[in-house]
Amino acid sequence: GQQQTVISEPEELDESAVFVGKVEDLKTSKRIRTTVNDREVVIFHHLGKYHALDLRCYHAGGPLHLGEIEDINGRACIVCPWHKYKIVLETGEGLYQGVDPQDPSRSKKWFSKGKKQRTHKVTIKDGSIYVTLSDLDLRCDSDFHAKEKFNDDARPD
Ligand code: FES
Repeated sequence: GQQQTVISEPEELDESAVFVGKVEDLKTSKRIRTTVNDREVVIFHHLGKYHALDLRCYHAGGPLHLGEIEDINGRACIVCPWHKYKIVLETGEGLYQGVDPQDPSRSKKWFSKGKKQRTHKVTIKDGSIYVTLSDLDLRCDSDFHAKEKFNDDARPD
């Protein structure tokens, strides 16, 4: 038979993809704060992967671009600087610590609250980073604060 050569296509850009910065710059800064269609978005470069999320924390609008990344059970999470909520970078899940009543050891474990923070698609093309907003018709808790104006230094109680 004939030998097939598979040539990998360059990543296609969505029509609504928005340029947010250069791969080079993100490698140094590790995060980019930007606005896509009036929505504040943060892009993280962590362990070779790119993650775009709503910048305003689903809890009370905290500035996620100022948070630290923490590993929780092998999942990279951004920790909101305001009230320390943990959000999984890959999925936008909110995590909380609790005790499983079925577990006789009663030791604290991490549980998921499900997706709380909206995540967006990142495309890399020719050294540039693009973000495509996820489907806004599907509601997500972080929508509530996505377009509010905040003072990042003034943490509410
Ligand atoms: Fe993020 Fe409260 S605003 S934890």
